[in-house]
Amino acid sequence: MLDHEQVTIRTGRRSRLPVIVAVHSTALGPAAGGLRLWHYPDWRDGLTDALRLSAGMTAKFAVAGLSSGGGKTVVALPEGREPNDGERRDVLHDVADVIDSLGGMYATGPDVGTGAEDMAVIGETTPHVFCRPARLGGSGDSSPHTARGALAALRAVGRRLYGTPTLDGRRLAIIGLGRVGAGLARLLAAEGAVLTVTDVDPAKRELAGELGAGWLAPGDILAADVDIVVPAALGSVLTRRTVAELRCRAVAGPANDQLATPDVADLLHGRGIIWVPDYVAGAGGVINAVSTELNHLDPDEAAARVDAIADTVDHLLDTAQRHGHTPARAASDLARHRLHTGSRPA
Ligand SMILES: NC(=O)c1ccc[n+]([C@@H]2O[C@H](COP(=O)([O-])OP(=O)(O)OC[C@H]3O[C@@H](n4cnc5c(N)ncnc54)[C@H](O)[C@@H]3O)[C@@H](O)[C@H]2O)c1
Repeated sequence: MLDHEQVTIRTGRRSRLPVIVAVHSTALGPAAGGLRLWHYPDWRDGLTDALRLSAGMTAKFAVAGLSSGGGKTVVALPEGREPNDGERRDVLHDVADVIDSLGGMYATGPDVGTGAEDMAVIGETTPHVFCRPARLGGSGDSSPHTARGALAALRAVGRRLYGTPTLDGRRLAIIGLGRVGAGLARLLAAEGAVLTVTDVDPAKRELAGELGAGWLAPGDILAADVDIVVPAALGSVLTRRTVAELRCRAVAGPANDQLATPDVADLLHGRGIIWVPDYVAGAGGVINAVSTELNHLDPDEAAARVDAIADTVDHLLDTAQRHGHTPARAASDLARHRLHTGSRPA
């Protein structure tokens, strides 16, 4: 059964590539969610991603207490070839055409493979786009806000584990030093955390050196002897096998899709390891974009909303403990409740 309100698949007029826009839910408001420009063996794999990721956005907005629904756009690029600048503009204009045809039911933003400058191109055709560069009136790169929100989530985990939110002296292992991971590493280093980091890109060792962080190979970091593991890369890092190897007390970070399968949350719980759902810890970027661009809050008010991720995590961990189930279950129950009642937090 299709769980989505609407799925549009159109061959781009210019690029001839399949543009997939999945609107999962508009129960809380018009849908939003980023544009993923990624290589897939087959465009149907991109469709699977769009369906899954748009449902995730619905839960992300609901738990964050925002009046937006969940959506996602995927353009399945053929494998083995990057589009040149002209081809990229064609793809972005094709995406903009589809979004504009939805008449405001859905607005896009950046995701894997796209950034603020791409949103500027989409904005040439449709107003339904978040995170354009500041010079064009948008809220720009979302990653610093995502990093800030992840820090708030980590502080809540710190409070749960040690009774205080300060991360000074705590040992954290960060997987992935991309836009979000690097920003988060800087914030954590400034707070006095003891960092171990990794990335598949060896050039990121330079940042590790700058921050005085230890470096491990990507294959070794999940088993690091640390307090908290922080996924900030791609891919489903938490599997039956890797959970058995963990030596940390908690896993919390901004990376999307951390669990290989939903039952891995139960395995973590069984091992006494706190797992904060990725769509909660990684919500800072969308919270900032919606708060500034839709709700017209000033930057300080938006930052306060991002910091409130700590309150959400506190609430979810309390609820999970009270009921003896996982934080994942507490988060999905909260999302379902807000979707059914259309309610926002007090
Ligand atoms: N950018 C945002 O605002 C935002 C918002 C919410 C969630 N996220 C999620 O956070 C994660 C990081 O996003 P980003 O914008 O920093 O992406 P990015 O592409 O800038 O960075 C990803 C980094 O991870 C590294 N990497 C990839 N595979 C790896 C592996 N197996 N082991 C170690 N390192 C690996 C890459 O080399 C890169 O440095 C993604 O899962 C993304 O979906 C990002």
